[in-house]
Amino acid sequence: MDKIIIEGGNSLSGKVTISGAKNAVLPIMAASILGNGESIITRVPDLRDTRTMIRLLEIIGSVCRFSDGKLTIDSASVDNPEAPYELVKTMRASFYVMGPLLAKFGEVRVSLPGGCAWGPRPVDFHLRGFEKLGAEIILESGYIIAKANNLKGAEISFDFPSVGATGNILMAAVLAEGKTIIRNAAKEPEIVQLCEFLNLMGADISGIGSSNIIVEGVESLESAKIDIIPDRIEAGTFLIAGALLGEITLENVNKNHLLSVVLKLKDTGSEIVESGNSLTILPSDIINPVDIQTAVYPGFPTDLQAQWVAMMSIAKGSSVITDNVYNDRFSHIPELNRLGAKIKVDHNSAWIKGVVSLKGAQVMSTDIRASAALIIGGLVADGITEVQRVYHIDRGYEKIEEKFSAIGAKIYRESA
Ligand code: EPZ
Repeated sequence: MDKIIIEGGNSLSGKVTISGAKNAVLPIMAASILGNGESIITRVPDLRDTRTMIRLLEIIGSVCRFSDGKLTIDSASVDNPEAPYELVKTMRASFYVMGPLLAKFGEVRVSLPGGCAWGPRPVDFHLRGFEKLGAEIILESGYIIAKANNLKGAEISFDFPSVGATGNILMAAVLAEGKTIIRNAAKEPEIVQLCEFLNLMGADISGIGSSNIIVEGVESLESAKIDIIPDRIEAGTFLIAGALLGEITLENVNKNHLLSVVLKLKDTGSEIVESGNSLTILPSDIINPVDIQTAVYPGFPTDLQAQWVAMMSIAKGSSVITDNVYNDRFSHIPELNRLGAKIKVDHNSAWIKGVVSLKGAQVMSTDIRASAALIIGGLVADGITEVQRVYHIDRGYEKIEEKFSAIGAKIYRESA
């Protein structure tokens, strides 16, 4: 298994281009199933997860071509409404094919996604939503079978504004008969772009970006073209690295998707300057401790919680980071403590005592964002850090060690 080796303490400077958003492209790839021709998606990041979704679409019967960030998906020959365990166990987002396959075929068989590094991740909101639309749900040896002769629009209200459940129900409702209202819907930019893509295909969705999304069912959808929005989580990851290690400029960012993060970074002492679609971070010479409560969009994203904890581990004082989206997403803490951080976890909060410096060590990735936190830790630590199991980071960051070394970090990949 590959590992990433970092010699810490080098300052950063220069420009980095942010890739297209993983969490936008995955549901949009699933939505292409609903079209009857070839959809074209540009600014697609080359990630393990996008390649896994391509493999899944090919198993279902789509014909995919992917090069230089351009992905074409021809869904004319889709004929196998099944998402096998081997793929779903490696990527929860495989579950996104359930809505479109149910809408297109009236029957779908998808493996239940397992848990993940930080605990169970249920899909009850998805299944209840499909039942509201008229589907019969059967659980059979680890697979979920959903059947519906014809889906009928319904009013669906989520207990929590789930990103995945909002996307999945949207992709089923667009071909349902009549009106669907999704209340307490997710407002993340990635779901907004999914709605835009579905409307480009001929769907009739309104209330986009609000908590109440309205879908008027249509007869059929055509393929469409779209350019993926910048990845706000990759951008936030690099901004945090810049706050710690030097002035860097991010290109291809949408500042409106990062407002809560930019405000919190300014509280730590950094300055952030916007010009067009780039952001420059000017770090201060000390990091003020800043508490965080993660929240759904437009709050501070849970996907930047681990990276923020890494930064606070060397802040000038103590801080508390509470995750209100996942209550057990702290597998990065023991690994950061191996680098000399002083962090205790209590329920869904990390209590951090800032230390003067971290010391390089061998650490282990456990999930995409924990890996990013360990890379940040290694970049600021004195000495050498070895991050193992980097296949996790390759799921969600495109060429991360190349991007960091291009702005001055001493970082390279050792293929085992
Ligand atoms: C999406 O996951 C993202 N993944 C996650 O990013 C992100 O952390 C998460 O949204 C929250 O923003 C993709 O978009 C591919 P949820 P998702 O449904 O849709 C509970 C990354 O690092 N819940 O919004 O799975 C759930 O347990 C990944 O890029 C239910 O209880 O997240 C959690 O506590 C990690 N029942 C909360 O809702 C359900 O049926 C939010 O989950 C569904 C969710």
